[in-house]
Amino acid sequence: MIMPLSNAVVNCSIDRDTFEEFYAGPAPWDIDKPQKPFVAVANLVTSPVLDAGCGTGEHALFFAAHGHRVTGVDFVPEAIRRARRKAAERGLSVRFQVKDALTLGDWGEQFASVIDSGLFHVFSDDDRHRYVQGLARVVEPDGRLFLMCFSDEEPGEEGPRRISRQELYEAFADGWEVESVQPARAELNPEFTEVKFSEGGLKTWFAVIRRK
Ligand SMILES: C[S@@+](CC[C@H](N)C(=O)[O-])C[C@H]1O[C@@H](n2cnc3c(N)ncnc32)[C@H](O)[C@@H]1O
Repeated sequence: MIMPLSNAVVNCSIDRDTFEEFYAGPAPWDIDKPQKPFVAVANLVTSPVLDAGCGTGEHALFFAAHGHRVTGVDFVPEAIRRARRKAAERGLSVRFQVKDALTLGDWGEQFASVIDSGLFHVFSDDDRHRYVQGLARVVEPDGRLFLMCFSDEEPGEEGPRRISRQELYEAFADGWEVESVQPARAELNPEFTEVKFSEGGLKTWFAVIRRK
């Protein structure tokens, strides 16, 4: 199925209808396991954990399997339905909820760690700002955000908007310490063949960001 994949060159957020279409087919990011950079920093992750834009739940389930209290949210009901089914099949307890991550600021709940695998880069500049303001309310002081996003080193214009290292520092300039931003590769679903990204995996930034 061909679908509009991209906000790469337009400053707009990718909307819910587009994501619903993705979940009708092989979603490019859905690899049935966590992305490696999150596994590599597992020792830094403390409970409670929020997986924002959790999709079908692989990162939430990975951290639950490591004994963490985890909440996963996504605004696509089908993604949450699949995540709950995986949790039941694996005998894991995760609170999966249909929620819009742009409403984080209204929640009145806090987390020691937030996982963002591919959410930040779907937002327009304005929504990015709103999301970061919401994060500032839900991340505990000294808590951390672990974020993987499309890098400006990924060639082409397909997929979400590319993000520069500088943009990450700017987005989290106020009230946060960007502890590290490292180049990383993201694996893609091999069934998704409509677009070819970099050989060896999509080029991303993996950032660890501490709430002051
Ligand atoms: C690139 S996918 C990544 C999914 C998952 N984190 C992973 O790594 O497999 C982005 C996810 O964010 C969700 N999403 C996008 N905008 C959202 C929003 N405003 N609130 C909640 N979820 C959102 C999409 O439905 C999709 O599942």
